[in-house]
Amino acid sequence: MSAIHEGGGSCVDAVSAVVSGLARGADRLSARDLSRLVAGLAGLEWVWRPMVQHDPVERWYRRLHRDRRVDIWLIGWTEGQDTTVHDHGGSSGAFWVADGVLTEGYSPRTGQPLHLRQLGPGTGSAFGRRYVHIVGNQSPALATSIHAYSPPLSRMTVYRIGTDGTRTPVETLPVDRPEPMMAQPGRIAPNGMAWPQGIDGLLAEARRHLRRRKPLEAAQAVRGGAVLVDIRPMEERRQQGEIPGALVIPRNVLEWRLDPRSEARLEGVASYDREIILVCTEGYASSLAATTLRRVGVVRATDLEGGFLAWKAAGLPVRRFGEAEAGTLPCGLAPFGREGPS
Ligand SMILES: [Fe+2]
Repeated sequence: MSAIHEGGGSCVDAVSAVVSGLARGADRLSARDLSRLVAGLAGLEWVWRPMVQHDPVERWYRRLHRDRRVDIWLIGWTEGQDTTVHDHGGSSGAFWVADGVLTEGYSPRTGQPLHLRQLGPGTGSAFGRRYVHIVGNQSPALATSIHAYSPPLSRMTVYRIGTDGTRTPVETLPVDRPEPMMAQPGRIAPNGMAWPQGIDGLLAEARRHLRRRKPLEAAQAVRGGAVLVDIRPMEERRQQGEIPGALVIPRNVLEWRLDPRSEARLEGVASYDREIILVCTEGYASSLAATTLRRVGVVRATDLEGGFLAWKAAGLPVRRFGEAEAGTLPCGLAPFGREGPS
């Protein structure tokens, strides 16, 4: 109950009232009971709406309740956030979509491929102890869901699903959170901190939250109002060439130029709802930079898959470093200086 103590006693009372309405006696709640529970809580919008948050970098969640029979979680999902394929360590469960749309891939039994279904507001999923699924928000809108597990979650196994539907367990982990979300989900050190991921893990985690653009998609997005931002150092642009119309913003000032709240923002570009596509040489540093921008609040920041080299290989326009811009830029903006405004 610790989570909603912060929100005030009335929320605690409301959740407790719903939980106390469940069948008494049994140590374990059925999937049907859990489904009724999460549906009932989803109907109490005044409880979850003021509490829920949506973090574009890391999926947000909060425990609403825990007792010996059940634990209940509130989860906020932004576009592209999803889980790995997982079971629930022998717990039954249910979740209900309170707002937005979630996609669930579920595997009825081993040997069958994942079935996909979309769950809109007022719908949900209930499952028994052997259920395996993956859940995510593939829509641009925010989503909110309420999850319950009985007995309370204590471990999960993450799976790899083969093209023939076979399940291969990858790792079984103790959990203190709902619905694993990282490449190494639930790996919580005794001090409560996540284990160090290393650069590969950090990059994989960053890209899980990005809808990355391939070169042709990026070119089309620019025609629709997106902005290409080249973060490569001058020396690399000198050696490799440039993309006509791309804004050049050095990596070390990127967040300050693109945060609409920053005094050093780039007027006409810094925006919470404009798509920003970052470009580096091969599309590695740009993924990390895009993730940082999203955390700043530029929630449509993403990056160019394969970077400048992929853009050039796709036959899209490039120019030699220093060649003058002529005419209207693809992004519809006036040309900036070689390093952008200072
Ligand atoms: Fe799950």
